[in-house]
Amino acid sequence: MEILIRDIPEEGAQVAAKLFKKILSTRPQPVIGLATGGTPLRLYRELIRMHQSGELSFKDCTSFNLDEYVGLPPEDERSYHHYMRSNLFDQVDIDPSRIHLPDGCAGDLRQACRDYEEKIKEFGGIDLQVLGIGANGHIGFNEPTGSLASRTWVKILSEQTIKDNAIYFDDPEEVPRHVVTMGIATVMETRHCLLLANGAKKADAVRRMIEGPVSASCPASILQMHKRVTIVLDEEAAYLLTFKDHYKWVEGNKLDWQKYD
Ligand code: F6R
Repeated sequence: MEILIRDIPEEGAQVAAKLFKKILSTRPQPVIGLATGGTPLRLYRELIRMHQSGELSFKDCTSFNLDEYVGLPPEDERSYHHYMRSNLFDQVDIDPSRIHLPDGCAGDLRQACRDYEEKIKEFGGIDLQVLGIGANGHIGFNEPTGSLASRTWVKILSEQTIKDNAIYFDDPEEVPRHVVTMGIATVMETRHCLLLANGAKKADAVRRMIEGPVSASCPASILQMHKRVTIVLDEEAAYLLTFKDHYKWVEGNKLDWQKYD
């Protein structure tokens, strides 16, 4: 795992955006996996800025999002379809016909999940997958103790995640209990994962992900088995890491071609 630690989240978003640009520039038709939630917002703002200044184009990109709530239609302001339009898609030059999110309102959800997996394959797999991490160690909405071999499927949110996500709803009772999410195996097949985490609230999950045993009790820990993962942390999210100084040492000794900034 490549661990990059920055003083503040803004600096993390900048290095993450540079990595994003590096990967996009090496593929003629990049396939990107995207996440929602509070964490990637700074990254998306930086990508928009790069796009506006002519440094980055999404015109040849195809995108697949990690997840969507069951029962929220795309026009619902709390849906991830809406989040992606207002926080990224409407402000860059991505072709709308190349945008994919799970359909949380499909008549046959199980078929829709299988179709989503097929679609990812059809486009040749995901080159770069953006991830956040839940305070309980989830990635996508793969909650603790779920299968580490899962595929895109309907999952039930944990009570903790429902509480954490209640800030986006008027009433915690309105938070859907069910989501469609890419599975862990789907994420593991992506060619490069870029996981961002900020703040002390994530520190324990971050420690378990990077330095704990690989275990379904912290789904993100499976990323230890992924061939190419970059984890970008702020100091607060990194503060429980035993080998923090080592990660900084490694980054300080990178060769030029291994650097993003
Ligand atoms: C969102 C997603 C989730 C979030 C995680 C962290 O698409 O897949 O795993 O990344 O819940 O959420 P924030 O960033 O709001 O703390």
